[in-house]
Amino acid sequence: MPLKAWLAAGVLALAVLALAQEGVDPREEAKRQKQLLLETAGILPTELIVEQGKELFNRKGPSGKTMAECDFGLGKGVLEGAAARLPRYFLDTNRVEDLDGRIVTCMTRVQGFKPEQVKRPEVVAVAFYIASFSTGKPIQVRLLFPQERELYALGEKLFYARSGSRDIGCATCHVTYVGRRAGVLPYADVLGKDKSWTHWPAYRYSNDQIWTMQDRIRACYGNIAHPQPDLYSLPILALELFLAYSNNGAVVEEWPAFVR
Ligand code: HEC
Repeated sequence: MPLKAWLAAGVLALAVLALAQEGVDPREEAKRQKQLLLETAGILPTELIVEQGKELFNRKGPSGKTMAECDFGLGKGVLEGAAARLPRYFLDTNRVEDLDGRIVTCMTRVQGFKPEQVKRPEVVAVAFYIASFSTGKPIQVRLLFPQERELYALGEKLFYARSGSRDIGCATCHVTYVGRRAGVLPYADVLGKDKSWTHWPAYRYSNDQIWTMQDRIRACYGNIAHPQPDLYSLPILALELFLAYSNNGAVVEEWPAFVR
């Protein structure tokens, strides 16, 4: 066999190997890791964080109030299914808020914490706790208020925008390349069948971190060599509303999720 053919065969073999590696379904692998952890530790990190979130939820702030005094969209202290309906417009703040943002509003406006006293890990833990009340619920996000429709339009624009030296954007990976490589799950179809909205908030075993959708989107901004928008910023919120709305009807398998 001529050298060239040998080389081609070698490259092909390597490609097949890589494909086999990638062929491991990340969702199946996450299930396996979860089971493994459960068997060895007897408890999941997600459960520990939910417990921590519950304690924070019931902790009194400087105003003497707990988070049970806050409205997460379905009335004061109602948590059942509330997270599955966020982001949404809130009259009291006159803006659209997601779970993270509404928790900050609760801590500052109702509980009396100063903005600089609000710690991110605490917000995420409370998000885990509140989200846990939406397991089994369908995503139901609406565009009733003009503020919601405007933000949705911005999110859609940002999702399809392309920028940076590589001229790519969210849609490059999450729409254009979805399912391109046969038999593999290269990138999630975040607008459709992969129900990406229901995968966050989550514990990521690959880096042992707890992330909400805000953290997930910021990490993806890193992928496009674009400066990461700040947490709680408008671009993040807009993208969240766009993604959540696109995932309407998807049933939350388990919140918080356990992912790669
Ligand atoms: C260079 C390719 C690339 C670009 C560009 C990109 N992402 Fe991602 N994104 C990924 C990969 C890879 C994952 C992880 C998929 C997995 O683990 O299944 C991911 C995961 C996600 C997820 C979670 C999906 C799930 O089901 O858990 C969301 C949501 C997401 N990206 C949104 C965005 C948004 C919004 C943008 C634009 C700001 C963006 N991505 C840009 C590659 C990209």
